[in-house]
Amino acid sequence: MKKIIVLISGTGSNLQAIIDACAQGRIQATVQAVFSTRSHVQGLERARDANIPSYAIRPSDYADRAAFDDALIRHIDEYAPDLVVLAGYMRILTPHFVAHYTGRLINIHPSLLPKYPGLHTHRRALENGDSEHGASVHFVTEELDGGPVILQATVPVFPGDDEALVAARVRHQEHAIYPLVISWFVDNRLVMRDGTAWLDGQRLPPQGYAADE
Ligand code: GRF
Repeated sequence: MKKIIVLISGTGSNLQAIIDACAQGRIQATVQAVFSTRSHVQGLERARDANIPSYAIRPSDYADRAAFDDALIRHIDEYAPDLVVLAGYMRILTPHFVAHYTGRLINIHPSLLPKYPGLHTHRRALENGDSEHGASVHFVTEELDGGPVILQATVPVFPGDDEALVAARVRHQEHAIYPLVISWFVDNRLVMRDGTAWLDGQRLPPQGYAADE
């Protein structure tokens, strides 16, 4: 069984989707532990409910970003994970952290990358009058939200939508695409090579699987 570590900072609805997919055998792996940058978040409760070891490791307890990331690496590596999954993890990673897990570190971002890296993606999509929005799963590289995209899900944006409606629509899709991508990785179908994502030996286009080139 492959081993997954999930890093969170909040609600953990993607974490839940991953836990459920493991329990149902859609992902042939186990979530070994969950680490959160915040205590008392729902994601930690979800881990506890699933009997998964869970820890809050708070950045404020460390001298700087490097010390925090080094401590996190030590904790994570006790589990010798095959894959480290960022699921609503609200911290910028040090280059050292990214290099340490390169090729086995993935993230989900609530926009159709390369559009809207960073924060407030739903608001920005609405303000720009976009008729489509979505989410992207990508390998993590040193560039913030800039690593090679593996899979995107697109949702419509309707007149009169507000941020909460768009966020819920995107979140719903996230819960489908993140477990799917994780299953590809766990089944040895997905790798990062030469700064690109490859699925079943095929180089994926810039916007991921099944995108129009
Ligand atoms: C998701 O929208 C994800 O794309 C972003 O943070 C949010 C996390 O939500 N990175 P949850 O904690 O998984 O509910």
